[in-house]
Amino acid sequence: MTTLRDPIRVGNVELKNRLVLPPVCIDKAVNGEVNDIIVNHYDMMTRTGCIGLVIMEHCYVLQNGKASEGQISVSRDSDIEGLKRVVDVVHRNGSKIFCQINHCGSSGDPKITGEPLMGPSSALNLSPGAKTRLHPEPMNMDQMDDIKAAFTTAAVRVKMAGFDGVEIHAAHGYLLNEFYSPLTNKRNDLYTGKNIMGRVRFIREIIQSVRTAVGPEFCISLRFGASDYKQGGSMDAEAVRACDVFIRAGVNLLDISGGMCGFVNPSNRQPGYFSDITETIKANVGVPVVLTGGIRTPEFANQMLAEYKADLIGVARQQIKDPNWAARAMQA
Ligand SMILES: Cc1cc2nc3c(=O)[nH]c(=O)nc-3n(C[C@H](O)[C@H](O)[C@H](O)COP(=O)(O)O)c2cc1C
Repeated sequence: MTTLRDPIRVGNVELKNRLVLPPVCIDKAVNGEVNDIIVNHYDMMTRTGCIGLVIMEHCYVLQNGKASEGQISVSRDSDIEGLKRVVDVVHRNGSKIFCQINHCGSSGDPKITGEPLMGPSSALNLSPGAKTRLHPEPMNMDQMDDIKAAFTTAAVRVKMAGFDGVEIHAAHGYLLNEFYSPLTNKRNDLYTGKNIMGRVRFIREIIQSVRTAVGPEFCISLRFGASDYKQGGSMDAEAVRACDVFIRAGVNLLDISGGMCGFVNPSNRQPGYFSDITETIKANVGVPVVLTGGIRTPEFANQMLAEYKADLIGVARQQIKDPNWAARAMQA
């Protein structure tokens, strides 16, 4: 029976166990730069040596995609040195680390982005993380090309900083998720919100562009807001088809979470509240799947693995509260 203690291979990366510290934004950067508080946080989180994979909090790929004042930047070459400090401390503690890259889209706040908000269309972003209730400006092709290029150069910086992989953020109502969700994508062009191939197109193009730039060996994860759990939103039943497209584009790991509902599931508050959808995705795709959400005990995490709900388990808030959670989990 598979347990948290079992190793797993993700792309070309060997993880010593199946416990993930998912991305949690601690919002401590000043001017986007990594500082001692951030390095110490990741040191403290991994000091037990018991976490297989850390996914570092979302970092902005462009100033106009910055989600919060204290968010870390991956938008400049000068960010690489600071990011390396986090990689070094986590590697020294014996864990692998990916870096999550993001553009906030219309979840942001013009006071932070410095520009009017952008989105696939002018529809309001009603995700729990959205900072304003302003209608975004619909993006044109030039803006979309800039964002694709920004994700691509950010991924190259992540590789240069020594991370074991990059995670593209397409969940929780941020820009890439907005293209996937019919609630925010009202476009009528090739990226149309009216059919699944239009909705996945921008995410697919970004994955392909990142894959070309980082080469075939570097690990790419996708945090995918697989369902909105809202009337008129994206649905569970479509997720496998979307994941299939993303895998063919170059994804090695699917890190499943919510879409326009954020990181909680409004229709299920039980521990492991995304396990129905991860179970279906895992049964139908050929890359490992991470389940995160509401998991509190190592016993329950092991149960999820034993029941084939996922290949890896993410535990965010419990581990942030108690950095010894991972050590206990390895003994369970
Ligand atoms: C304060 C906070 C910050 C978060 N920051 C991020 C983030 O940067 N990127 C992301 O994909 N998810 C983020 N999340 C969501 C977590 O990765 C995770 O999915 C969520 O906390 C549910 O898991 P849990 O029940 O184990 O805490 C954040 C969650 C919290 C509570």
